[in-house]
Amino acid sequence: MKERVLVAHISDIHLTSGYFSRELGENVVEEVNRVKPDLLVVTGDLTDNGHPHEYREAKAFLDRFKVERVLVVLGNHDSRNAGYMLFEELFGSRYPSVEVGPLRVVGVDSTEPDLDDGHIGRLAYRIVEDELKGFSGVKAVALHHHLVPIPGTGRERNIPSDSGDFLKLLSDLNVHLVLCGHKHVPWFWKLNEILIINAGTATTLRLKAHTPPSFNLITVNRNRVVAERVNSETLERQPICSMRIEA
Ligand SMILES: [Fe+2]
Ligand SMILES: [Fe+2]
Repeated sequence: MKERVLVAHISDIHLTSGYFSRELGENVVEEVNRVKPDLLVVTGDLTDNGHPHEYREAKAFLDRFKVERVLVVLGNHDSRNAGYMLFEELFGSRYPSVEVGPLRVVGVDSTEPDLDDGHIGRLAYRIVEDELKGFSGVKAVALHHHLVPIPGTGRERNIPSDSGDFLKLLSDLNVHLVLCGHKHVPWFWKLNEILIINAGTATTLRLKAHTPPSFNLITVNRNRVVAERVNSETLERQPICSMRIEA
């Protein structure tokens, strides 16, 4: 088994809104393919309004990543216009699970159709518990909505209405890592030994103030998680966080 894995974490690509940038899209595809990650995690808002033609473009875009394992979760924009039905047809389960090396990631649908606010719900709690309770490696969860407010976004809303209960579950299960998106501002929090990493928007110009478009590269082994942020425009890398873990 591989001891150390590299995860590319991209979010909020928003095809085919007027904000999507082909140039940024090319940069991200080329850079991710160049670094050859073991896993690609996409934390939602693949589309802008959940329309069929947007889903087709998002699928074609994600198919260009030459990564063996891909885990995709729904964003609030993808749930619009009954888009959650198309998601299942094109990407499979709304609660996917992937294991690579010492890492297992469980994806969670945190969306409510027609609402920007998130809600996780007790069905998801059971799925996360079943997938992670007895697992002895590095435990991770991926979802679209941020569980803790992100500074510098200009608004504090859209946190899942049951964030507190879900964070307690993650803490009880000794989850090591949470990956999310939604606010288009990259950030991280360390909370009860959980490293929560929020990705910015990888490919759009839906930006806040001085925050550039970006994605994350995260290296995981049994003792440590290390994350870097890659500027989608310049491909400059910046270390963002590192946390010692015990798995
Ligand atoms: Fe978004
Ligand atoms: Fe979103």
